[in-house]
Amino acid sequence: MAQENAPLKKIAVLTSGGDAPGMNAAIRSVVRSALFNNIDVVGIQSGYMGLLQNKIITMQAGSVANIIQRGGTILKSGRCPEFHKSENRAIGAKHLREAGVQALVVIGGDGTFNGGHLLANEHGFQVVGVPGTIDNDIWGTEETIGFDTALNTALEAIDRIRDTAASHDRLFIVEVMGRDSGFIAIDVGVAGGAEEVFIPETMANVDQAIQSIKRGMARGKSSSILVAAEGQKVGRAYDLAEQIRRRVGFEAKVCVLGHIQRGGPPTARDRILASRLGNAAVRVLQQGMTNVMVGVQANQVVSVPLKESTTKKRRVPNELIELAQLLAH
Ligand code: F6P
Repeated sequence: MAQENAPLKKIAVLTSGGDAPGMNAAIRSVVRSALFNNIDVVGIQSGYMGLLQNKIITMQAGSVANIIQRGGTILKSGRCPEFHKSENRAIGAKHLREAGVQALVVIGGDGTFNGGHLLANEHGFQVVGVPGTIDNDIWGTEETIGFDTALNTALEAIDRIRDTAASHDRLFIVEVMGRDSGFIAIDVGVAGGAEEVFIPETMANVDQAIQSIKRGMARGKSSSILVAAEGQKVGRAYDLAEQIRRRVGFEAKVCVLGHIQRGGPPTARDRILASRLGNAAVRVLQQGMTNVMVGVQANQVVSVPLKESTTKKRRVPNELIELAQLLAH
């Protein structure tokens, strides 16, 4: 994955896919680490779509001032199905060449990495991926930028819901993000003391949830919280509420947290992770590496092949699934 290149003079950075708190901290780290090493930096606005539209801007140290604490991404983001076509990628590559860019840092999830991987293979740019997604489902890193913030946002919401649920003796279903991944749901379920957690990775166990609620009632508990990831097997949270109502007649209040989880100031943990990974991205490019993602394993910064992080999926550990069930007893 290391290649002989002319000395690195100019790199580009973009954010793509769903935004995640901490992306700004990552952009800041990439820009400042590069400038420190006398490498010029340009930012590509609005992800791969912006690359196709040649929305390329010069980044200076001041361009990333006062952003470490801000959620979202100053470069803007988006999903770009057009980039799946090789003729469009050739347009993007032309824009990069015209701007004098030799290497690209792509911050996002597996779709973002796939685009970067293809650019590297087809057009010879050095590409490094930085994992930024609230879903935490990227192979090769134990944590993604944005996950910790989203998790804490969801947890705060659950704590608040618990207060009102207890006052009114109610059953609540709280839906958290995660179309394909249950990391937020399982972690917030454990941290928030949920009676049951529904995730996309496992079969839904509505009966088990009902048993758990009944057990709680038998020992005097009058309110319960179920956590459901967006992509859990029963469907959306309202479908789950309907199933429970039909089976045992319990009325459940539904609270969909939605995009609240994607915004807000990043936690200290996310800012530090983003700062470390942004810096690591520049270092691996300087070492001549390409087609890699930087991540964290056992609290050490590592690089893994981009191909692996686009083809493999990190799964919620069984240990956490079992723990969530055990603690709800
Ligand atoms: O991938 C991040 C994520 O927030 C998922 O958890 C969620 O399912 C999806 O993006 C929502 O995407 P959009 O903002 O395009 O609706």
